[in-house]
Amino acid sequence: MPSAPAPAGLRRADSWWKSAAIYQLYVRSFADGDGDGIGDLAGARARLPHLAALGIDAIWFNPWYPSPMADAGYDISDYRSIDPVFGTLGDADALIAEAHAHGIRIIIDVVPNHGSDRHPWFAEALAAAPGSAARERFWFRPGRGAAGELPPNNWQSIFGGPAWTRVTEADGSPGEWYLHLFAPEQPDFNWDSPDVRREFEDVLRFWFARGVDGIRIDSAALLCKDPALPDVTGAQPPGPAHPYTDRDEVHAVYQSWRAIADEYSTGVHGAGVHGAGEHGAGEHRERMLIGEVWLPDASRLARYVGPGELHTVFNFPYLNCPWDAAELRRVIDEALALNAPLGAPATWVLSNHDVDRVVSRYGRPDTSFDLERRPYYHSLPVDLALGTRRARAAALLTMALPGSVYLYQGEETGLWEVQDIPDELRQDPIWDRTGGADPGRDGCRVPLPWSGTEPPFGFSPAGAAAEPWLPQPKEWRDLTVFAEWADGDSMLSLYRAALRIRRSVPAFAAMLLSWRQAPDGVLAFDRPASASTADGDAASATTPATVRCVANLSAVPVGLPPHASVLLASGPLADGLLPPDTTAWLQALRAG
Ligand code: GLC
Repeated sequence: MPSAPAPAGLRRADSWWKSAAIYQLYVRSFADGDGDGIGDLAGARARLPHLAALGIDAIWFNPWYPSPMADAGYDISDYRSIDPVFGTLGDADALIAEAHAHGIRIIIDVVPNHGSDRHPWFAEALAAAPGSAARERFWFRPGRGAAGELPPNNWQSIFGGPAWTRVTEADGSPGEWYLHLFAPEQPDFNWDSPDVRREFEDVLRFWFARGVDGIRIDSAALLCKDPALPDVTGAQPPGPAHPYTDRDEVHAVYQSWRAIADEYSTGVHGAGVHGAGEHGAGEHRERMLIGEVWLPDASRLARYVGPGELHTVFNFPYLNCPWDAAELRRVIDEALALNAPLGAPATWVLSNHDVDRVVSRYGRPDTSFDLERRPYYHSLPVDLALGTRRARAAALLTMALPGSVYLYQGEETGLWEVQDIPDELRQDPIWDRTGGADPGRDGCRVPLPWSGTEPPFGFSPAGAAAEPWLPQPKEWRDLTVFAEWADGDSMLSLYRAALRIRRSVPAFAAMLLSWRQAPDGVLAFDRPASASTADGDAASATTPATVRCVANLSAVPVGLPPHASVLLASGPLADGLLPPDTTAWLQALRAG
């Protein structure tokens, strides 16, 4: 724990990822530098000063690699380059160096479960015969039925439809089937193949050597399959007996990846392509791994984290949790209990590129979320004013919790889920593959509004050749970065203030939390600056360094506990009372 705030960007040099604020940058929707209607690295580079001023510690880039874009870049055809629509490898190098100069670390997405049907290995596999080594890198199998006309088993694609597609062999005859847990353009790699293991280890080294600070591992629990490829029975929970979710063999993969991350953290390989002096001697070079692991069972999730394996995993139960004090407290306690014994920080995430935006979720009569029930949630009415008030309160609650926090671009300006994208403009494969039953994820991926009063709102430069790749609502004129920067009451001003305080107050860097008694529907906890004040009777142990967070999720105003000052509140306080759907950060009174 630092005794005094360090200069921006250089603080938390040791284990920076434990309490970092990480900004998820969905590159095709962030900022378009070249006017083709699609965000790119030039756009991201130009906005780095803005991100630095926002006060984040790291950026997680969604996939930026060459891709046919069948799943917005999660279908990668070359893991060691940049898609031309986003820029070049030179742009990525420049971006990494410039971000580092701003004190911002870079986390990139690696997708190991599957590649693209345009990956050279897949082309090789298609050209090769059944049973060949080239096919062994994927899951090719003969079909069932008299003429192999049925898929090898009953697995379903997570995007809808069967998880198998039949190929035409080189001689033109109907041939084997290959496995794709997502779209047909995303063939699953076979992690029993030594080629696959070696390849990804090399990909990690490639990016770590270029100066990348962390890796977000896509679909991390799905890599290993039961080679017998048995049918899935409905009731099978994820775990060792499941044919493809959370099998025990997957841990060996991440143990080897952790060893690689550690090699680069300890400087065995120098400081990257930008030179050893880039960050000062050995400063903030620690590399981290974060897994995208969706598992219902906390004890199974725990197996992914800790020394020797991943540094952190995403906390999806928090994201899915309804706006309800008791439920949130349960989920928070579970996350802390899961991570603490492993020495891992919890992570807190309210939204990402796969889920409905938080303003819309919290404005519905049912504030829970579940990826698999998106059509139901989209059928509910949305009260945007209510959702926005709650999202503000949730932002302060989230940023007060111990651990690292992930902010999804646009969350900081209060963008809502765009639910009325015209069908013909929808891009997400989920829409097509479910025959339109599921609207998919386009509504949270609409390009950001930066400035001006009409689309493209500064997302693309003046005179751009193309419109933004998804249409922006006209009402976003009030939610541009420019408009919100100047407005002290905006969501952006709240995020900036919260990030600044979170970064400068030592209690926020300590991993401590102690709950306080609070009325029904209210969450109240202390963030003491040292362990001695976290134990025992919190009321008598507080020091001025303690920060107290009080979130009112009830329907009535509540009194605030005695405090020296209000550091920040998500909405106006009324006569010293904390109104419904409002959170306040308080500086504690000296005890005694
Ligand atoms: C992850 C990504 C999602 C992608 C899927 C397949 O869940 O977050 O966007 O579609 O993996 O790669």
